[in-house]
Amino acid sequence: MKYNSQRVAWWFFATCMLLFSLQIIYGFIMAFAHVGLDGLHPWIPFNAARATHTNLLVVWLLAGFMGAAYFIIPEESQRELEWPRLAYVQLAALVIVGVTAIIGFHLNWWEGRKFLEIPRPLDFLVVIDVLLFIANIGMTLWKSERKTTTALVLFFGLLMAALLYLPGMIPTANQTMDSYWRWWVVHLWVEGVWELIMGAILSYLLIKLTGVDREIIEKWLYVIVGLTFLSGILGTGHHYYFIGTPRYWLMIGGTFSALEPLAFLGMAWYGISMAKRGGRAHPNRTALSWTVGCSVLSFVGAGFLGFAHTIPQVNLWTHGTLITAMHGHMAFWGAYGMIVLAVISYTLPLLTGRRLYDAPSATFAFWASNIGMISMTLAFAVAGVTQVVLERRVGMEFLQVQTEIQVHFWGLILAASLFTLGITAFIWNFIQHGKPVGELDTSRDAVEPAVASAPVVAAPSGAE
Ligand code: HEM
Ligand code: HEM
Ligand SMILES: [Fe+2]
Repeated sequence: MKYNSQRVAWWFFATCMLLFSLQIIYGFIMAFAHVGLDGLHPWIPFNAARATHTNLLVVWLLAGFMGAAYFIIPEESQRELEWPRLAYVQLAALVIVGVTAIIGFHLNWWEGRKFLEIPRPLDFLVVIDVLLFIANIGMTLWKSERKTTTALVLFFGLLMAALLYLPGMIPTANQTMDSYWRWWVVHLWVEGVWELIMGAILSYLLIKLTGVDREIIEKWLYVIVGLTFLSGILGTGHHYYFIGTPRYWLMIGGTFSALEPLAFLGMAWYGISMAKRGGRAHPNRTALSWTVGCSVLSFVGAGFLGFAHTIPQVNLWTHGTLITAMHGHMAFWGAYGMIVLAVISYTLPLLTGRRLYDAPSATFAFWASNIGMISMTLAFAVAGVTQVVLERRVGMEFLQVQTEIQVHFWGLILAASLFTLGITAFIWNFIQHGKPVGELDTSRDAVEPAVASAPVVAAPSGAE
């Protein structure tokens, strides 16, 4: 940790750990409901559990992105955060809004729009909060002499994510229009601007962990940004097939979304090849595992499993089934869950001055959570394929099919238990690191010996 204000990142990461744990609990509530054990129903009906599960996911990922930015932007800009205190206020406000929304879901205060369930008044508070965050990192970057490609891509990714929250707030009484705008948020986030955030964090971690020249790593970041925009923007059309929009979306959506895996393939190739190329091994191998693992599993979950149901002829059958949940889990985990855990793994020793990346809990966390999530994805896949065949090909009634596929949810519970053990180990390792250190102590940067001696190519401003 080179700048004192980077310490605020730890509080964002601690919030991630807390909200992530809660998210998992709600996942289990739904998984048990699927096998018929739905005793909590009077207090937590399925719709409330589902909205809580997915919204907690989005909030902990956003907290992770913000924490990452508060660590990365000062370091890349070589100056303290512009308003360090504001960052704490902004975190507290985010948590208060998030908790209010979650309580609201349980009291039936919600908008029935998947992923955008947060009631409208709270939306405005989210917007203000995120704008404060953007202003803070924006000013830090603006006032710096040194604006690296990595920092700029991270900043613009976050700025566009903030702006793309707004279409979801456009008032309309028309169901088609509502769906249309909802996808601007959901799709253009995860298959557009969040990919820039992920690409930038990936680039930062690869520079730090592999010792490969910044110039080479950032050159490939441009290619990824290009591929993302080329395919992702019009790829939105793969959600317009059946919502009442014109027929030409079948063609446009099908074609462009089929190209989307290229950006994720690029990231997988990027992660693996840079890790191979970097001769100087960084001691924090756990962070490198999470980084490269993220680049690979994001391709599997988003690229491969996304492609599996993106063509209209296939989506016609799989739309809105557990096939979507199969893809949703692996894509969110591989791309965004793992990049947040990667950045936490890398920064934690620097923030706390303790090096616990070799601890058994760190290695166990990586393997158990990943094997657990791959198995969960398989359980959803088997349930999803069975659902599609029985419900949509054979024509069996919806609830009868749900009874037929119950057994696969026992498989899901088993796999999710392994996943949860892994995450418990991760959180245990996080707690063992302790709180961030009080005073700036440059000796802690010795945690990065390999990279400190690595040749660094001049950033645009010419200083590193
Ligand atoms: C213990 C772990 C977990 C369990 C048991 C679990 C279970 C579930 C269940 C049963 C559903 C609802 C499926 C339905 O509609 O019937 C669901 C939805 C969802 N979960 Fe999880 N989950 C877990 C962890 C996670 C994690 C770690 C992530 C992301 C990284 C995640 C992302 C999602 C998403 C995105 C959806 C919505 C999918 C869709 O729109 O179809 N879940 N989860
Ligand atoms: C990291 C990136 C990605 C994430 C986190 C992600 C996550 C999700 C989630 C949660 C849903 C359900 C949304 C909802 O119903 O509200 C979804 C739907 C979908 N995704 Fe992705 N996705 C990603 C990338 C991709 C890619 C690259 C493709 C195509 C190549 C793709 C194809 C689809 C399709 C076709 C649907 C609609 C499923 C349906 O009709 O029910 N996704 N995705
Ligand atoms: Fe999409």
